[in-house]
Amino acid sequence: MEIELYLKERKEMVDKALDRVIPSEEAYPGIIHESMRYSIFAGGKRIRPILTLAVGDLLNQDLSRFLPAACALEMIHCYSLIHDDLPAMDDDDYRRGKLTNHKVYGEALAVLAGDALLTLAFEILTRDCYNKPGVTLRVMQEIASASGTSGMIGGQVVDLESEGKSIDANILNYIHSKKTGALIRASVRVGGIIGEADEQQLGRLTRYGECLGLAFQIIDDILDIEGEEEKIGKKTGMDTWKEKATYPGIHGIEPARKKVKELYNESLSAVEIFEARGEALKILAEFLVNRDY
Ligand code: IPE
Ligand code: IPE
Ligand code: MG
Ligand code: MG
Ligand code: MG
Repeated sequence: MEIELYLKERKEMVDKALDRVIPSEEAYPGIIHESMRYSIFAGGKRIRPILTLAVGDLLNQDLSRFLPAACALEMIHCYSLIHDDLPAMDDDDYRRGKLTNHKVYGEALAVLAGDALLTLAFEILTRDCYNKPGVTLRVMQEIASASGTSGMIGGQVVDLESEGKSIDANILNYIHSKKTGALIRASVRVGGIIGEADEQQLGRLTRYGECLGLAFQIIDDILDIEGEEEKIGKKTGMDTWKEKATYPGIHGIEPARKKVKELYNESLSAVEIFEARGEALKILAEFLVNRDY
């Protein structure tokens, strides 16, 4: 499998679906739709929806059934970034190589664009109910709990509270597994839920998602130190500047790299039971841990 081509094709599939479900700039009041579209089409990697679709493939299913949830996950991710960049949070001016949402539309519209993406995410899930209300409810519950105070929001709160403080490894683990890990774990699990994976399969997929989610944030922290600004599309050195709790900050850069490798190996073992059908998940894991953007 050619990873670059695979990612490109999947990204196109997700982008088309997002374009269908997000109201156009022509729809009144146009400015909010323009602001939502500005951030959603700014060029993200689409990792979360791509993971959901990859699980659909693994379970040999029609991928169109996975697209509404895939879009919902990307919208929630995008909202979390718009808010994360606000002056009240990380106060960042660049994201994906472009000005952050509030720099273009102002803080009020950035807050509202985030809120609107979060709300629309759940609306599209009710619209496309997989012909099985039980599955829809499980998908919604999974995404809601990964996004709320037991997931992404919880992680963001502790991330902000920990700025400038010395925190221990357990708190750092909480921040990473919640602020970023929870949505990545949910992206994989939602694929399993829609594809009606059995308990054992769902358990393995969950472990795969947890390992990758944690590794993903450690790499994000490493890239803040040694990434190239043009490649990652955001200003580097911001975590040090804001005295953020990061894995390399607490444990050092080499232990951070070692941890990523361990998590990668564990993610591969987790999907061993799928044999050849697990290949795409393994290649995605390899791409994610070696990424430089
Ligand atoms: C960046 O996420 C923020 C984190 C949660 C670590 P991504 O690296 O997935 O961002 P995009 O969507 O590709 O820009
Ligand atoms: C972001 O973590 C996590 C969420 C937005 C939920 P970071 O603050 O490290 O992400 P970047 O580095 O700004 O992309
Ligand atoms: Mg942050
Ligand atoms: Mg940030
Ligand atoms: Mg970061």
